[in-house]
Amino acid sequence: MLDFSHERKKSGCKNISCRLLLLFLLFTSCFGEAPGPSQCLLEPEHRFDCAPEKTLNKDECEGRGCCYLTASDTSDLKQPSCYYPTNYPSYKAVNVTSTETGYCATLLRSTKTFMPKDLMELQLEVFFETDSRLHFTIKNPNENRYEVPIETPPRVRSQPSTMQYDVKIITDPFGLIISRKSTGQILLNTTMAPLLFAEQFIQISTGLSSNFLYGLGEHLTSLNLDLNWTTLTFWNRGLVPRKDTNMYGTHPFYLAMEKDGLAHGVFLLNSNAMDIILQPAPALTWRTIGGILDFYVFLGPEPKTVIKQYQDVIGYPFMPPYWGLGFHLCRWGYPSSNMTREVVKKMRDSQIPLDVQWHDIDYMDKFLDFTYDPDNYGDFPEMVHEFHEMGMKYVLILEPALGLPQPGRTYLPYDDGLRRGIYVTNETGQPLVGKVWPGLSVFVDFTNPEAHQWWYEMLKEFHDRVLFDGVWIDKNEPANHGYGSVDNCPDNTLENPPYVPKVVGDVLQAKTICASSHHHLSSHYNLHNIYGLTQAIASYNAMMKITGKRPFVISRSTFSGHGRYAGHWTGDIRSTWEYLYYSIPAILLFNIYGAPLVGTDICGFLGNATEELCVRWHQVGAFYPFMRNHNTHDATAQEPYVFSKESQKAIRKVVLRRYMLLPYLYTLFHKAHTSGDTVARPLFVEFPSDRNTWTIDRQFLWGEALYITPVLEQGKTEVKGYFPSGVWYDLVTGAGLESKGEWFTLPTPLDAINTHIRGGYIIPAQRPGMTTEETRKNDLRLLVALSADGSAQGDLYWDDGDSLDTYKKGDYSMILFKAQNKVLVNEILHINGEAEKLTLDYVAVCGVHAPPSKVLVNGAAWEDFKYMPGTKLLKIEKLSLPIGKKFEIKWS
Ligand code: NOJ
Repeated sequence: MLDFSHERKKSGCKNISCRLLLLFLLFTSCFGEAPGPSQCLLEPEHRFDCAPEKTLNKDECEGRGCCYLTASDTSDLKQPSCYYPTNYPSYKAVNVTSTETGYCATLLRSTKTFMPKDLMELQLEVFFETDSRLHFTIKNPNENRYEVPIETPPRVRSQPSTMQYDVKIITDPFGLIISRKSTGQILLNTTMAPLLFAEQFIQISTGLSSNFLYGLGEHLTSLNLDLNWTTLTFWNRGLVPRKDTNMYGTHPFYLAMEKDGLAHGVFLLNSNAMDIILQPAPALTWRTIGGILDFYVFLGPEPKTVIKQYQDVIGYPFMPPYWGLGFHLCRWGYPSSNMTREVVKKMRDSQIPLDVQWHDIDYMDKFLDFTYDPDNYGDFPEMVHEFHEMGMKYVLILEPALGLPQPGRTYLPYDDGLRRGIYVTNETGQPLVGKVWPGLSVFVDFTNPEAHQWWYEMLKEFHDRVLFDGVWIDKNEPANHGYGSVDNCPDNTLENPPYVPKVVGDVLQAKTICASSHHHLSSHYNLHNIYGLTQAIASYNAMMKITGKRPFVISRSTFSGHGRYAGHWTGDIRSTWEYLYYSIPAILLFNIYGAPLVGTDICGFLGNATEELCVRWHQVGAFYPFMRNHNTHDATAQEPYVFSKESQKAIRKVVLRRYMLLPYLYTLFHKAHTSGDTVARPLFVEFPSDRNTWTIDRQFLWGEALYITPVLEQGKTEVKGYFPSGVWYDLVTGAGLESKGEWFTLPTPLDAINTHIRGGYIIPAQRPGMTTEETRKNDLRLLVALSADGSAQGDLYWDDGDSLDTYKKGDYSMILFKAQNKVLVNEILHINGEAEKLTLDYVAVCGVHAPPSKVLVNGAAWEDFKYMPGTKLLKIEKLSLPIGKKFEIKWS
């Protein structure tokens, strides 16, 4: 939740007064002494940039007390030409004391830096929050600065004896060294470069435990980040995703692998514009232009536990409605309700499952929220009703910018918002005006509680007319088609900070609103990166109140903690093979960020997708946690039915496979919701001790058990895939693939995607129907993949699929499945509601080495079984076992 009170957490420090000492130090020196040659003797990868804000010549660089390299020295490296010497003045820690929750110290700087308004006194507080979570802040003890208004867990002190970490405070120059107690591995070491903390420039660096680092999104990257002088910029921006640019979201969290396969994570809770610089030392520098330093370090020690510990701070993801996991179809450019009906009809005729039809801005009247076009969408409510009658759901787009009234046009939502003072304002206190789809537009300030109430009322009133089931919130970086405001932005330090992170467009206002505009909670300068999050919270709460059911919200802009309220799609990607590949790291990273309901536009958004690309993209997309085909208005159609019969068949096949696997997918979402697990999961998260997995991002898992190896290249009908040690069974044939941790080449014709079940796991599945509603009523199937020792385990979470808090209220069923010594049983952990109606009709057991002569079901002989000697697959059919009653299936 947003902390509207904006109260600071109370400091744990006793009043430590160091003012006298501070005064003394202030008079002692000033920056500007050129360093001696020995202080400049640093390996290139250990040089930290001393001229981040502009290029300096030798005199200017040395004038600020830094070391200079001529262009020829730096020619083939991306290293900085002006860098800090080893003795560059930093802070000194004094009065280091133990407190009830950890440590406290005063940090004093005696020498000013090159940035204006250095804070010469800071306060460090270290909180031992849990055995595996350390928290520390560095801020101004004399004046409150902006802090990100999201709820974080209360501070409870961990017992020193059980803490997994050691903390060392180096006093002069100040540095913090955090290490893992069990191995001595240093996880965070801020002594690598000086700490700078000025009014609008904060910089701190650390060494890294290895070259394997994941996170720090949203950026277009491979799964593991490139440490070769990469700058990652955080200033949410609606822009076609490209490498090395700021993008829609901000998640300043990384997970790092240690050399021995253990993992830790670091989260900087800061929402100001920021650059994070990675360099090959390996090292990392955070450079933010506001707020405070509010760090969390997570000790893991497995990647899985790091991800969970991060979510302990930002919140676990919301539980999506079951229908949200079906196939969604959208495009920008459905001209009328009748054309949309045609689309749905063609989908149904093509026998490809479809759960949710969407609309882009086309349905609106003059692109205004809460309206619909009376000419082309005059029967909009009836159209939605018809979709509901077909067992489908309906989602529409909403914008955070409202069009200004035009002569002869009243627009009540705007008038009401104006009356209630819920818009972002400019320096004169008037609503800031930018340009978005409706032309001149104002921007709702979702940090204002009144705006949440207004948003709810507007949605409610519209919902009373059109029964939409979910909302798509777009352009909430927020995007503005111009720069700042139509009235320009004032010339002040928020608009022109001394350091501007490497944003596209070079200024903070580029294609968004003025940095110095005002929100209820603070300046846009501080709040920009959480704009999308605040709209997601307002939308989630409004939809929950309106429908009384689980909200379904998909947002373009995100910030840490977003997954608690909404899902995400990765924006305006191009219809190319390259973007098909990038979609995999993108969805894996959002799972790491605790926002598992994520997908990318299947077939890509911009440009014309070829038929082959689209088929391959549906195959990958069928394994995105959120599966939607969406297209821009001026590209050729890419709905599945526009393709050849053969391609439609291939797409149908894979969408049906997804629908078959929905019980497993839903169970994974339940685990994400209740314990911070990932749904789509990078291989290294399951196999951290196998270093080969650390860079795998062309294959991925669903949970622990399902492994997906898609074709991502044009014209290929086979694919190379890495399989960690163990046995993996082809989901379709049941054939086993035994791996010692090897690469295999798998034949993959255009109608196929490789999906393997990991030996040792049981996947619950269901006969697929044309909608999730239909599928949910079908009998269950169990896919049992025996490990080498003949055992396997799995589980099923089941509830009514859309009521709120079913788990909390106990309105759910949780059933375990276990196979061992040729016996499969279920164990009912909890049974309540819908699962009582479910029956199991089919069991496939993979890895049965000898042909069984008999099968017993609950002690009685069962005739309906088949054994496939070629694949060693045993099929037990025509069962009719209530899943909520204990059963036993034996083969021998
Ligand atoms: C930008 C979104 O990213 C895209 O998905 C949408 O189609 C257009 N806005 C039009 O609303």
